[in-house]
Amino acid sequence: MLEDDFGREVTGVRVSLTDRCNFDCVYCHNEGLGDTRGPMDPDDDEMSADDVVRFLEVVEEFGVEKVKFTGGEPMLRQDLEEILERAPDSMETSLTTNGTFLPGRAEDLKEAGLSRVNVSQDALDPQEFAEITQSGAYDKVMEGVQAAVDAGLSPVKLNMVVFEHTAGYVDEMVDHVAENPGLQLQLIEYMPELTGHPEWNIDIQRVHDWLAEISHRVEHREMHDRKRYWVGGTDPDADGGDGGGMVEIVDPVENEEFCANCHRVRVTHEGYLKGCLNRNDDLRTMGEMTREEIRETYRETVENRVPYYGEYLVQDDDDQWVVNEKYIGA
Ligand code: GTP
Ligand code: 5AD
Ligand code: SF4
Repeated sequence: MLEDDFGREVTGVRVSLTDRCNFDCVYCHNEGLGDTRGPMDPDDDEMSADDVVRFLEVVEEFGVEKVKFTGGEPMLRQDLEEILERAPDSMETSLTTNGTFLPGRAEDLKEAGLSRVNVSQDALDPQEFAEITQSGAYDKVMEGVQAAVDAGLSPVKLNMVVFEHTAGYVDEMVDHVAENPGLQLQLIEYMPELTGHPEWNIDIQRVHDWLAEISHRVEHREMHDRKRYWVGGTDPDADGGDGGGMVEIVDPVENEEFCANCHRVRVTHEGYLKGCLNRNDDLRTMGEMTREEIRETYRETVENRVPYYGEYLVQDDDDQWVVNEKYIGA
């Protein structure tokens, strides 16, 4: 297992398969949105299945245990099942999707080796959902979540970005996962600097405080040092418990320890390795590389990883967030 200069072991990789997406969420930082072509073969600028598999095989040698596939919308890749089938058996595979293409395909993904899925669902109200995602796909997404549960892609986590548009609905979403077997919830702190709408930001600490009050218990901290609350469903520690009703808060901005506990390296759809989601200053391409070159590039990426939020980020005189000087080049 490789470790960076901040003592963070890299145990997982997060691989974007495309920047295309059929939604246009108002909070999304992505480009290449509004793609209406549906699932298809990779675009020219996207890594091929061979590239992805070769990369996974190389990082497996370094002890990487988990791979998360993301986008854009990763299910727009026709060859997703092929990639899953060819991914190293030792790795836990998960997918973050907007859920539109899960109906009719969730079982194929399971058969191809996918372990679990996170689905963006920011609202239970169809009108609200349509306004946030700029799409009319509410029914498809609801159907997709159920298809994932039925296919055993569990736990199925619903991703809800908490910001001005959704803050009033957090409690009904918490009830929703507490009442529906197989579902968990991720309340995600809105990252305003990615979208240019700082005014949509809300105080995520209020959500923490409220959850601590209503939860049956506060769980341990884990990956990314996020806090987990169990609000209902089946006790995950009991025999046959499915972990339903768990609520996790993903709060990279407020949680001082979040970045200090980040254990994932990222790969862009074009095949660039990145030490951090929010940084673009450390890109290292893997295109056309031999396995030995990928090994070297991966080692360099890990060596150069620097945390982003928390004590590692400070505001400058113009209120811009910049890396605390003492960590530059650390
Ligand atoms: P699991 O823990 O594997 O279930 O998934 P996840 O929550 O890490 O990933 P998911 O793709 O569902 O993303 C949920 C939110 O976490 C999104 O807003 C991501 O942008 C954010 N996120 C995931 N990884 C990182 C990271 O390394 N840094 C930051 N700042 N945010 C992250
Ligand atoms: N802030 C926080 N989370 C975001 N996501 C997309 N844009 C943002 C943002 N500005 C989340 C969505 C999606 C996941 C991949 O990223 O919840 O599920
Ligand atoms: Fe962005 Fe994901 Fe929404 Fe697509 S579904 S617009 S990638 S947040």
